[in-house]
Amino acid sequence: MAQIIDGKALSQQVRNDIKTRVSELKNTKNITPGLATILVGEDPASQVYINSKNKMCVEAGMASFHEHLPADTSEADLLKLIDKLNNDKNVHGILVQLPLPKQINADRVLEAIDPKKDVDGFHPINVGNLVVGKKCLKPCTPYGMIKMLESINYDLSGKHAVVIGRSNIVGKPIALMLLEKNATVTICHSRTPDIASVVRQADVVVAAVGRAQFVKGDWIKKGAVVLDVGINRLESGKLVGDVDYEAASQNASAITPVPGGVGPMTIAMLLYNTVEAAGNTL
Ligand code: GUN
Repeated sequence: MAQIIDGKALSQQVRNDIKTRVSELKNTKNITPGLATILVGEDPASQVYINSKNKMCVEAGMASFHEHLPADTSEADLLKLIDKLNNDKNVHGILVQLPLPKQINADRVLEAIDPKKDVDGFHPINVGNLVVGKKCLKPCTPYGMIKMLESINYDLSGKHAVVIGRSNIVGKPIALMLLEKNATVTICHSRTPDIASVVRQADVVVAAVGRAQFVKGDWIKKGAVVLDVGINRLESGKLVGDVDYEAASQNASAITPVPGGVGPMTIAMLLYNTVEAAGNTL
């Protein structure tokens, strides 16, 4: 049976370390790391996520600022708010919750955030630095997965990592991070023929497709490590990942559960990035 990579426990550990770094920053430099979140509209899932971010900020001793704007907010008003936060020295990290309402161009908004405060790592400057392997703020979900691999002392060098999904938030950045760690990386997506045969060659599988139990147990090579980014609700109400967890566990050497896997690490890494931004170590 596979080792379960407990994202909840690891997230707590990362947040405990962050708490220590936050008090050091307060004591030595008189800086309280501050994260500002912006939510436009009323999407319930986004509200839950934002509330959880704000709660964890406060628990870590950080300052949390939240701006909730109505769904019909204009792009100009949102850009004005971002400009204000860019110039606020108490704010070290800015996160605009995606997706944004249709009248707002998300690219223009992400590009307006000061790259030094871009704790999501979505600004083209940070994306570009990630591509060329320079220091940068890294997207939280993939960064959390790298921390999970480190937690089991997994050496990626020379391993074949197969990423399923090519989103800007997960698929593309995790592929770059795995490459940086000397893995051989394959990205599969909706146009890839016979994904099963590609996944069968993988030492590391990253499933980020957004389809319940898309990856079958017999696709997983004996001893492979499986990282599951998906959170899907079945008709029964049960939450499942993009991987058939029970079946995959029979072949994997290590696997992340859903819930309690990759999800909790995302917020931990968001706080981590905010502390990095506050310490100005980049
Ligand atoms: N919506 C879903 N995931 C994310 C994320 O990682 N960051 C932001 N800003 N919005 C999201």
